[in-house]
Amino acid sequence: LSEETEQMLSAYEWLTKLYHHLIKYQKDGKDGLEYLKSRGITKETLEEFQIGYAPNKRDFTATFLTQKGYSKPMLLKTGIVAGNDNNEVIDRFRGRVIFPIRNALGRTVGFGGRALDGDSGPKYLNSSEGELFQKSKLLYNFDLAKRHIRKENEAILMEGYMDVISAYQAGVKNVVATMGTALTETQAKLLNRYVDTVIVCFDGDSAGIEARYKAALLLRSVGCEVRLANLDAKEDPDSYIREHGGEAFKEKVLRTSDSYMSFFMRYQRRHFNLQLESERIEYIERVLKELSLIESALEREYYIQELHKEFDLSVETLMSQLAQYQKSLP
Ligand code: CTP
Ligand code: MN
Ligand code: MN
Ligand code: MN
Ligand code: MN
Repeated sequence: LSEETEQMLSAYEWLTKLYHHLIKYQKDGKDGLEYLKSRGITKETLEEFQIGYAPNKRDFTATFLTQKGYSKPMLLKTGIVAGNDNNEVIDRFRGRVIFPIRNALGRTVGFGGRALDGDSGPKYLNSSEGELFQKSKLLYNFDLAKRHIRKENEAILMEGYMDVISAYQAGVKNVVATMGTALTETQAKLLNRYVDTVIVCFDGDSAGIEARYKAALLLRSVGCEVRLANLDAKEDPDSYIREHGGEAFKEKVLRTSDSYMSFFMRYQRRHFNLQLESERIEYIERVLKELSLIESALEREYYIQELHKEFDLSVETLMSQLAQYQKSLP
């Protein structure tokens, strides 16, 4: 690592400690602590994830780091502070709960900052992108989850910080997050190096549903098996676990997650009106096309049976249409 990179890493290290200390012991961090308590975060979890709080001050962080000897250009490069028109550096994170984002080696390379409820501004703010913090190449919590992921030969992919933290706290430890909804190829490949199966457990809202389709395609394209968990429209893993507990999450969400093909059928249903004959046929064609790409004959047969039962079409007809799609495969 270059000396400059080391310096940036050490700035993150200092701040992680400072923010974490503030939330644990100081009046300045009390709002943050109350907030996390209200969301059911325990002391141990606070510790494990080194969660902190950046006080609502204009240049608390900038001043602290300047006093530690960091230069202005260096501070700007870390993505922790911002420059203003008067050529001053001001804090990027003000009055926010801080989630340190660590790379695979466990070193903090960025922060995610959550606004407290009722505050204005975006709900989450992350370190700005730069040499150190590149969201598209990181998976939140990968360093802690790694050994659990290996052991279970399975990774659970979520959207957000709190989803991962709640799951981890509830004893589901092979969890990582994209920090948003767009999984990248780099992230997919990283997972594929460690596991056969990834369970995508995104939020139940439509953004989450669209994103899980894209994630599933990408994961499959790099060679992962995927399963897809279902949550109600208003739920995400964190809210589910808060309401129903970790055991229910394992039994009712993870264990009942869909295979790729079941998910695909469920997903396509959203886009067709099956009351209409024309769309019903389109839907069946779409499913058969997708099925033609499935390698397992057993799996193909299984879903043919499902279509047969649901739409009262003969197995022979469905099979012959499927065979046509298979023939036209490149
Ligand atoms: N995110 C982000 N910037 C935003 C919104 C979201 O970086 N403005 C990322 C965060 O990593 C967030 C994740 O996307 O955790 C998922 O977003 P969302 O579902 O909207 O938030 P939650 O994680 O559910 O946040 P919370 O439970 O704290 O409300
Ligand atoms: Mn979401
Ligand atoms: Mn969410
Ligand atoms: Mn949430
Ligand atoms: Mn519920």
